[in-house]
Amino acid sequence: MTPSPASTSLSQSIPELCQDLVENHHEYIRAVGPALLRQAVDLGPHDTRADLPALILLLRTLLRDLDTHMLKEEAILFPYCQRLASATEAVSMHCGNTANPIRAMDAEHKHCQSQLITLARLTDNYTPAAGSSAVYAGWLEQLKLFAEDLKIHIYKEDQLLFPLALARDAELRGADMVS
Ligand SMILES: [Fe+2]
Ligand SMILES: [Fe+2]
Repeated sequence: MTPSPASTSLSQSIPELCQDLVENHHEYIRAVGPALLRQAVDLGPHDTRADLPALILLLRTLLRDLDTHMLKEEAILFPYCQRLASATEAVSMHCGNTANPIRAMDAEHKHCQSQLITLARLTDNYTPAAGSSAVYAGWLEQLKLFAEDLKIHIYKEDQLLFPLALARDAELRGADMVS
C-alpha cells in the first residue's frame, strides 16, 4: 500500500518533518516493536497455524535493522537536513554530498520494504487462519498497524523529506556559485 499524500501534510518544513518522523514514527517503532516480538515469542504453534519460527526471525531481524537505520538518521542525516534548512550557504557533509547518505537510506528502505512483503506473505496478508487463536488474531491486527505505519514512515522520508533536502542543497550550492 502506498499511503496517499493526503495522509501527510505536504506543507511541512524540513525541521517539522524531522521532528514528526522521530517523535511519531521512530518512537512508535521503539515502543511497539519489542512488545510485538515478545508477544510473538509467547505464542504457541497451536495459536497461529503459521510458520511461527520464520515470523519471529523476520520480526527480530526487521527490528534490529530498523534500530541501526533510525540511529543513522537521527545521528547524521536528520541533523544535516536541519542544518540545510537554516543555512545561508552550502553546508559541507563528511559523507561527500547530500545525495550519498540519502541514497544509503533509500537502499535500506528498499530492504525494509522487501521484509514487509515477506511479513505479509508469512501472515497471509495479516489474516488469521481458521482455527488460530483470538490472541493470534489480535496480535496480527497490531502487526498490521505496525507495518502500515512503517510504510507511511518510509513514504514521508523518501517522498517528502529527502526531495526537500536535495532541493535545499541545490539551492544553497546555486546561491554560492552566483555570489
Ligand atoms: Fe526514519
Ligand atoms: Fe528511514
